[in-house]
Amino acid sequence: MVEAIVLVGGRGTRLRPLTVTTPKPMLPVAGVPFVVHQLARLRDAGVGHVVLATSYRAEVFEGFLGDGSRLGLELDYVTEEVPLGTGGAMRNVTHLLRGGPDAPVVVMNGDVLSGHDVGAQLGLHAAAGADVTLYLTRVDDARAFGCVPTDAAGRVTAFLEKMPEPVSDQINAGCYVFRRAVLDAIPAGRVVSVERETFPGLLADGAVVLGHVDPAYWLDLGTPAALVVGSRDLVLGRVRSSAVPGPPGERLVLPGAQVAHDATVGGGSTVGDGAVVEAGAVVEGSVLQQDVVVRRGALVRDCVVGQGAEVGEGCVLSGVAVGDGARIGAGCELPPGARVWVDAVLGPHAVRMSSDQS
Ligand code: GDD
Ligand code: MG
Repeated sequence: MVEAIVLVGGRGTRLRPLTVTTPKPMLPVAGVPFVVHQLARLRDAGVGHVVLATSYRAEVFEGFLGDGSRLGLELDYVTEEVPLGTGGAMRNVTHLLRGGPDAPVVVMNGDVLSGHDVGAQLGLHAAAGADVTLYLTRVDDARAFGCVPTDAAGRVTAFLEKMPEPVSDQINAGCYVFRRAVLDAIPAGRVVSVERETFPGLLADGAVVLGHVDPAYWLDLGTPAALVVGSRDLVLGRVRSSAVPGPPGERLVLPGAQVAHDATVGGGSTVGDGAVVEAGAVVEGSVLQQDVVVRRGALVRDCVVGQGAEVGEGCVLSGVAVGDGARIGAGCELPPGARVWVDAVLGPHAVRMSSDQS
């Protein structure tokens, strides 16, 4: 049975205010907490036992996922009192792994949505007898990622985390297969960055570090805009996940949601359980979490609206992140990039993008 570790301890700072109440991997994406898509991918690739390395708001994970049996997995949890960094978090859970020193262990960042072939990555790792096999992808701008060049044989030649001038467009896509003994050799009890310390150290020591380049769909869900795109692409079926609770289509309306017959919901939007979309409202490419209310005639495009928030009558919101429980009064207009804080109250017509020219 293959084992895996999922790193879910980050604070998700770039996703505030959504992550004030909910850790990033537990935010709903296409109808279920994001981490459920990752766990389903791991299970579908033959993984049977997963350890979640938690830190920030750790209790939320176990409260929802339990022992994993509903997902057909055995789940364990380890909580860092103080975040130990990506490498420290891996080392901190090795005592729960059951395989021998050469057994493969899949490690995933908890915020990466991909369609890559985990089974093929495991196959390459085993066939080559590698120490670590990294899933790599290509992006237009590598500055926010780990830049990972490889040679003609597919061996990693450098690991350069977040360089202002990247040497290649090939990046670390956030899913690794480690030989278990390599994880056990990470120093225990202190902060370790796998990107800045472990990978460069392994390369300097001549370890066999391979790249598994896979051109499949890939997205880091680290910002509200990316979260919206990821959810939309899952609903539309541009990237597949067996955890989406419905067939691919223009919208995913969860049981318990109410959408007025003359409201328009499309573009890969999700309407969460208990949410209400009133008459004449338009919801396009957006995520409405549980118990959200969109009042009559409002337009919500490319937004994520947190649990229990209300978007008032005739509001126009585009590319906005609305925190849980916020109340946006009638007639407000909010531009792309706006963030409305948890429980904030905006009065009617409080915010307009431009003055009326009538
Ligand atoms: N348990 C635990 N403890 N988890 C952590 C900690 C920690 O101290 N710090 C970060 N994590 C988790 C985050 O929750 C996330 O799932 C993952 O580790 C990566 O952290 P991010 O904060 O999302 O890193 P990033 O997106 O800036 O960069 C990483 O991912 C890129 C791909 O998306 C790096 O691995 C890059 O090299 C990579 O290109
Ligand atoms: Mg990230």
